[in-house]
Amino acid sequence: MAVAGTLTIPFDVYRFDPTKDKEPRYVRYTLDLAPHTPVLTALLRIRSEIDPGLTLRYSCRSAICGSCSMVVNSKSRLACQTPVGPEFERHGRVVIDPMRNLPVLRDLVVDMGSFWGNYRKLEPHLIGDPDHPLPKGEPSKMTPQQVDAFRETPRCIACAACYSACPAVEADPEFPGPMSLAKLFRFVVDPRDGAAQQRLLKIQPGGLWLCLRCHLCTEACPKDVQPSERIRDLKEMAIAVQGATEHGSKHALGFKENIRQRGQLNEAKLIRQTYTPLEALPLLPQAARLIRKKPELLKSPRPIEGVEEVEKLYELLDEEKPT
Ligand code: FES
Repeated sequence: MAVAGTLTIPFDVYRFDPTKDKEPRYVRYTLDLAPHTPVLTALLRIRSEIDPGLTLRYSCRSAICGSCSMVVNSKSRLACQTPVGPEFERHGRVVIDPMRNLPVLRDLVVDMGSFWGNYRKLEPHLIGDPDHPLPKGEPSKMTPQQVDAFRETPRCIACAACYSACPAVEADPEFPGPMSLAKLFRFVVDPRDGAAQQRLLKIQPGGLWLCLRCHLCTEACPKDVQPSERIRDLKEMAIAVQGATEHGSKHALGFKENIRQRGQLNEAKLIRQTYTPLEALPLLPQAARLIRKKPELLKSPRPIEGVEEVEKLYELLDEEKPT
């Protein structure tokens, strides 16, 4: 029987040693725990009291070092920051998996190589501007407003929870991932960096536009860095520097224009705005299937009732944009 004030909680923990096991498996452990107990503490109890072979990574136990990220009941989180009680109440158990999008080394420990490799490719350091060299031997000063422009990004602890949650990384491991792009934003807006334009041009092909704006990275981030918002900012800056040259940027601008004109999407027009006729050729079989199901897609939709209100919203949004 559980001690007063505690819950008897079943944990289903992912176990896999690629050097020995053919398949991963889940092992159930049951503990009596106070509801506020962090998942990490529960795992450490399992390791010290039940199964010394359980392998996991952690250090600070205070949501600072970023090393205890894992998937708890299907969500990427810091184990030291996730209390067991609400998880148990919501799901009836606590299922623990290693982070997604990274190969498992053993149990809950993953190989972070691609995460750091993608970050390194973005040159995450100040690049000097030969025309405006940084003062030698003196601190280079920034105004509070300049610092404020990237105030969220330094909070990042590189825990990779965003990388684990990101469907774009899953679809294309070359996608830099939310953390790398949020940090790239930090260098693009830093007035001491002399390579903002080159950074934006370099990241444009593919990289930036693979982001689907699902916001799962922002939901997973334990430090409220809001990577999806920083990626949106980068997309706007990339269009300002180079115009709409990628399928992603053409699609984004076409979508915006479509909604502005009619309050709803004209899908056939959006395809024409995104692809040249030659580029659209391979999409024809898919388009034919879609049109068989929804023939109305061929018709240009009429403006919705109250479309003037949509225009007013766009005007308001344009006014809000920083100059
Ligand atoms: S152990 Fe350091 S963030 Fe969780």
